[in-house]
Amino acid sequence: MAARVIAVDPFDIVVFGATGDLAQRKLLPALFYRWQAGQMPPEARIFGVARRRMTDAQFRTLAADALNAHVAAADRDADTEASFLDRLAYIAADADAEPGWPELAAALAGQPGRIRVFYLATAPELFGPICERLSANAMVTEQARVVVEKPIGKSLASARAVNDAVGRAFPEDRIYRIDHYLGKETVQNLMALRFANALFEPVWNAAHIDHVQITVGETLGVEGRAGYYDTAGALRDMVQNHILQLLCLIAMEPPTSLSADAVRDEKLKVLKSLVPMLPDNNVRGQYRAGASAGGPVRGYLEELGDHTSHTETFVALKAEIANWRWAGVPFFLRSGKRLPARVSEIVVAFRPIPHSVFDGAGPIAPNRLEMRLQPDESVKLCLMVKDPGPGGMRLTEQSLNMSFAEAFGVRNPDAYERLLMDVVRGNQTLFMRRDEVEAAWRWIDPILNTWSTAAEPPKPYTAGTWGPSAAIALIERSGRTWHEDGL
Ligand code: BG6
Repeated sequence: MAARVIAVDPFDIVVFGATGDLAQRKLLPALFYRWQAGQMPPEARIFGVARRRMTDAQFRTLAADALNAHVAAADRDADTEASFLDRLAYIAADADAEPGWPELAAALAGQPGRIRVFYLATAPELFGPICERLSANAMVTEQARVVVEKPIGKSLASARAVNDAVGRAFPEDRIYRIDHYLGKETVQNLMALRFANALFEPVWNAAHIDHVQITVGETLGVEGRAGYYDTAGALRDMVQNHILQLLCLIAMEPPTSLSADAVRDEKLKVLKSLVPMLPDNNVRGQYRAGASAGGPVRGYLEELGDHTSHTETFVALKAEIANWRWAGVPFFLRSGKRLPARVSEIVVAFRPIPHSVFDGAGPIAPNRLEMRLQPDESVKLCLMVKDPGPGGMRLTEQSLNMSFAEAFGVRNPDAYERLLMDVVRGNQTLFMRRDEVEAAWRWIDPILNTWSTAAEPPKPYTAGTWGPSAAIALIERSGRTWHEDGL
């Protein structure tokens, strides 16, 4: 099935931090793909801004290298690449100094009524100063919007400070807080599955669902990001945003529409219903040397060069939601670096049947709905069926399995492609509202506070395993077990 492309209105995008990792690895490739698909109109302009002095030509060379490194060769052709690079210009500017800002303002002023996207792919400390400069140089027009990346703060208080600073220059309906998990195809499919099918909603509650598991595993370590990661840790890096957003999409009430506020109101209610975490319901771990991603790897502390760090590279939590739909249904969440597989999946485990009529037919496994977000995006519904052939009534588990690659045969766009075009369209549905971010911190903060005062370090786990044994005990204490089939 061919991908459908609806061209967006002409726009200018200004990428702050244009020489950095995010711009090179994600944003420029995403824009390239949208250009190639014909979604970006020919008038669109891309301005790179960073501190380093550079000519337009040098920036284009840098961008060409980024495309070389991050766009599959089969997806590139010389003409499209040349016409894309033609859209690029570069302006050197520093959030702490005046030079460069008037030039940027002058370059944009040529198209005063055009949609303007300011993408802040920079350290969060710069969000406030950059917004202030944009405002002081009269660049925040009615059509201007700002995109900010996580981390939005390190706690509720610091998140409020960041939100306040950005909010002084832009109104909330023009602030786009990216959580790239929301741009993933299968994450959006969660909404399709729940709200475009009558099948699931009647059983989507505590009466029929036993528990939910969300796993986001990575084989990578902290790579070149140890500086940032050591100040964050897995809870801030993955749970406060990505995993809680997934939890919200599973647990929220059906919104009245897909409008941004209708969806975000429902997600907010879930975040507000999270039960404060009990000490026995969370485990933090830190990897030691082991084997992962196909070879021997060092431990976190050796990679970091600091043997005193208590930063967690793994976290497992039992979350509970205090409302009528979910009371008593645990949501087991886990995420970590240096795990055995790169996999993100959600498993909805249904309750066992109330009574079996199949004497001696073998155990009857409760139904499961498994949503694989990556890799190999798929939705699987596990059912009991009769083992074929003679030999009496024997039961076996089989699955209805929909692999998106097989079903649709199209390239799965990167989350940033969808999200960038949503910003241009002015659609905030897949972006986090201020109150959501703050509600998530309100739940996370006490966990962080308990950890920061604990004398005990995170529990060690060997790289290449599913985290410390305490994470297994966390779920097994409740009579359940982590889903690891096919991982
Ligand atoms: C980022 C985290 O937000 O998400 C990284 O900062 C993590 O530490 C990444 O590796 C995972 O994203 P994805 O899309 O590869 O699952």
